[in-house]
Amino acid sequence: MIKIAITKGRIEKQVCQLLSQKGYDMEPVLHKDRELLIETADGLSMVFAKANDVLTFLEHGIVDVGFVGKDTLEDSDFHDYYEMLDLNIGKCYFAVAAYPEYREKVFHRRQRIASKYTKVAKDYFTRKQEDVEIIKLEGSVELGPVVGLSDAIVDIVETGSTLKANGLEVIEKISDVSTKMIVNKVSLKFKKDEIFHLIEMLKEEETC
Ligand code: PRP
Repeated sequence: MIKIAITKGRIEKQVCQLLSQKGYDMEPVLHKDRELLIETADGLSMVFAKANDVLTFLEHGIVDVGFVGKDTLEDSDFHDYYEMLDLNIGKCYFAVAAYPEYREKVFHRRQRIASKYTKVAKDYFTRKQEDVEIIKLEGSVELGPVVGLSDAIVDIVETGSTLKANGLEVIEKISDVSTKMIVNKVSLKFKKDEIFHLIEMLKEEETC
């Protein structure tokens, strides 16, 4: 049995749909109510968790495989896993966004940047050799400029509709994000055949 952790929400829906398309029996998942751990007839034991917890479960060997966004991987300090597949789903990108005036604005103080992804934001401004103040927000990051907390944000953009609805725009794209399949290094040794079978099944969706 392969133990899998899937990020709850959008990634969960897309990954389960993909597994179903590939012939895996996802009926128990589709009909789940509040259950957090589901075992399928095909030998998958699945837990549904918050993105950072998917990494925690993988790090501690609780699961063999994780399905998680590149955004979470890039913002984490944990890198001791194999990134096996890009599923070519959950596609979006990291960007700096702000009101249009931000482009011309000259700052006589440290800029304030709101983000849920503080490591990504810090790395980006460090690369630009700009000393900014990073302010952590847990969600609805667009609120940063809207309520006057920050000058700009670093966030993921998918359709761009949240930015548009709040009068914000992309100032600079940082990097692409999509859903990755990651594997615990020890699991790959001991469950090699099962894991490679799963990879082969999903591989057609791979982009690179
Ligand atoms: C994400 C992201 C943006 C939004 C972008 O938030 O943080 O707010 O989606 O999507 P769009 O470009 O299609 O409008 P999410 O909905 O995951 O929730 P959150 O704001 O609570 O993080």
